[in-house]
Amino acid sequence: MSQQSTFIMVKPDGVRRGLIGEIISRFERKGLTLDKIRVLTIDEDLARRHYAEHVEKPFFPELLAFITSGPVVAMQWSGENAVAVARKIMGATNPQEAEPGTIRGDYGLVVTENLVHGSDSPESAARELALFFP
Ligand code: RTP
Ligand code: MG
Repeated sequence: MSQQSTFIMVKPDGVRRGLIGEIISRFERKGLTLDKIRVLTIDEDLARRHYAEHVEKPFFPELLAFITSGPVVAMQWSGENAVAVARKIMGATNPQEAEPGTIRGDYGLVVTENLVHGSDSPESAARELALFFP
């Protein structure tokens, strides 16, 4: 048994397209538990801290513009192996490679606008949860 918490976020494209409920339902139906939720618009400082590992990457300017472009829904979800289970529900980073049945596979078309973020490890989850739920 590995009870974990993870940070999940509906990105601005998911909010704009009216997919908040659809995305939350996927995690809910799987059996994960929603512990915390807030709506906010990410500013540049928070974006740089959240995506610290990507600040030097060539795609960062595009990612920064996108992630600050409108409100997001930030959440803490918990359950057995919640970090890996949530990533599976989301699908591959590039929606064109994500399997049908995953959130990105069903609703995404281009890599930047991939609808949802999920922590990639328990360590990332702890860091990201502290950023969004201080
Ligand atoms: P996330 O952090 O948002 O959950 O996504 P991820 O782990 O699946 O992917 P990651 O490598 O952490 O990339 C973070 C986000 O940056 C955008 N991206 N754009 N244009 C590109 O080549 C590119 N690569 C990544 C995506 O929005 C990705 O989710
Ligand atoms: Mg990531």
